[in-house]
Amino acid sequence: MSRIRAGQPDLSVEVGSLQLTNPLCSASGCFGYGLDCDPLLPPEVFGGVVTKTVTPQPRKGNPVPRLRETSSGLLNSIGLENCGLSPFILEKIPALAARGIKPIVSISAGDPQGFADMASALNREPVAALELNLSCPNVASAGANFATDPGAVVEIVAAVKGAFTAGPVWVKLTPNVTDITAIAAAAAAGGADAVCAINTLLGMDIDLTTGRSPFARTTAGLSGPAIMPVALAAVYRISRSVEIPVVGIGGIASAEDVLKFLAAGASAVQVGTIVFRDPTLPARILDELAAWLTERGCDSISELETAWR
Ligand SMILES: Cc1cc2nc3c(=O)[nH]c(=O)nc-3n(C[C@H](O)[C@H](O)[C@H](O)COP(=O)(O)O)c2cc1C
Repeated sequence: MSRIRAGQPDLSVEVGSLQLTNPLCSASGCFGYGLDCDPLLPPEVFGGVVTKTVTPQPRKGNPVPRLRETSSGLLNSIGLENCGLSPFILEKIPALAARGIKPIVSISAGDPQGFADMASALNREPVAALELNLSCPNVASAGANFATDPGAVVEIVAAVKGAFTAGPVWVKLTPNVTDITAIAAAAAAGGADAVCAINTLLGMDIDLTTGRSPFARTTAGLSGPAIMPVALAAVYRISRSVEIPVVGIGGIASAEDVLKFLAAGASAVQVGTIVFRDPTLPARILDELAAWLTERGCDSISELETAWR
């Protein structure tokens, strides 16, 4: 389903070499493997469909409870529950291909070779890009998080780039670091084609009946409108510190939010948590984006971006 209609502004954007029909992509983990919210939210609405992070083997994820609402946000402790790479390739990619969709595939593994092996298996598949979810425990260093270690980021990205030539490689960054621009620079040094910012912020809740966190792993990831100012600052700072494109993620809930990310330096955005509240929102955001451009006499997003510079 193309969003370009006669007399409507052109919403298409480019993230480096990847052309998207509109700037709104699905954020990994909030729409399963792309078809899970269909027909309420058809994947064709999105400019890019980013799928739930897959790992080499299936994962059961964390025990319940896994979700807690906060004021204007959501805490999640899903624990990367996923079907594993083989079922993903055998079932999920063909189901999307049947709809004419090449997904942006989010992957995660326990070491650089694991990432490279997944990338090489996906190199033969109809996928638009890879998104590396580095916010996972490094098995080789007893649980350290790759996404906080610039050396590990360079190594993983370089390994994936050596194995995957079918499309661009995006690197998703965690905000849970002292300086996110240093990690973005590491991703660029490893050969990343774009960085995506941000993943969830470290958060926690307390259950007052026990005096403890409700989550089995104590802490959880905070997402939703509460994190948007943090994400916006991250996108602004990263886009001024590296040459590669930035994809903005975090709390987007309206066309105005999308425009703020584009003005801050994002080439495209992803939307996640807010869709749990209203799955029809992405289509409305795109209509409002088109109306916003029309009201200002802009024929396209690129025209608006030129006007902002
Ligand atoms: C329930 C849930 C599951 C998520 N799973 C993943 C995941 O598998 N991989 C990933 O890279 N990010 C995952 N995320 C993070 C989102 O992709 C996104 O970066 C974050 O939620 C911020 O965007 P939002 O505020 O629009 O949700 C998940 C978020 C939520 C709420």
